[in-house]
Amino acid sequence: MNIGKIISDRRKALGLTQQGLAEKLNISFQAVSKWENSTSYPDVILLPKLAAILNISIDSLLGYPSQSLTYYDKRYNEEGYYWGLKPNNLCYEIMRIKPPIRPYKVLDIGCGEGKDAVFLARNGYDVTAFDISDPGLSKARELADHCGVKIEFFKADIRDFRIETDYDVIFSSGVFHYIPNELRESVIDTLKEHTTANGINVINVFVRKPFIPLPPDMEESEITAGDWKSGELFTHYHDWLFHKNEEIVFDCNSSGMPHKHCMDVLIAEKF
Ligand SMILES: C[S@@+](CC[C@H](N)C(=O)[O-])C[C@H]1O[C@@H](n2cnc3c(N)ncnc32)[C@H](O)[C@@H]1O
Repeated sequence: MNIGKIISDRRKALGLTQQGLAEKLNISFQAVSKWENSTSYPDVILLPKLAAILNISIDSLLGYPSQSLTYYDKRYNEEGYYWGLKPNNLCYEIMRIKPPIRPYKVLDIGCGEGKDAVFLARNGYDVTAFDISDPGLSKARELADHCGVKIEFFKADIRDFRIETDYDVIFSSGVFHYIPNELRESVIDTLKEHTTANGINVINVFVRKPFIPLPPDMEESEITAGDWKSGELFTHYHDWLFHKNEEIVFDCNSSGMPHKHCMDVLIAEKF
């Protein structure tokens, strides 16, 4: 991910023009244009101010994931369940396609506060789930205890996690946009390899559409991962049977600012 693209994405997400950003930095708009076209780089002296205006860390501005508390850590540390307790509709699709006639093994990647993992465990699936957020995992463990189900939760990062067991269902909602471009093929190949015969992968991912402005609360690691193209997720599964491959545009009010997302949704079965 180059610095120019990060500056351009953040500037647009904040509704700033090149001229507007240049004025805040007391420089010419041509300088901003050159950064964004990757014909020059910002002077190091400008980095703290530029990062502050773009509301990201200097690490993220330079294309390195931030080591600080994530956006989700902060939200999961607040009271209540940030994502609520209602299971994702995809959980019902899992139950329809792979009804729990035996305790099918499920992996929930980026389980957040555990609402979907707990729902599936309560319905008879043998669930393992991980997330990168400690506060998210604590809430997920509490929820599982409260509901009297046993789930193996652990902390891991989808970008360097490797699976050792095979699963009947691999599920991930709202997480794949954190996988950087260069890792997508190997991460997905590993998931496919570790899916049992006739097992399913159930995944959604935000995709970039030129007519939908970038969301105002885009997370730093999402920016550094690079956009997912429309249909990109589906092509990784071209050799599996599709139960669902659809693209939806929906309204969102996260961060209190109304905006839209475009999402590709896949349910594919290994043959
Ligand atoms: C949009 S939330 C979705 C949470 C949950 N799947 C749900 O639908 O309720 C994205 C989740 O991905 C997690 N996450 C972000 N980056 C991650 C990474 N590199 N590895 C694993 N989980 C990650 C976040 O902590 C957060 O819980």
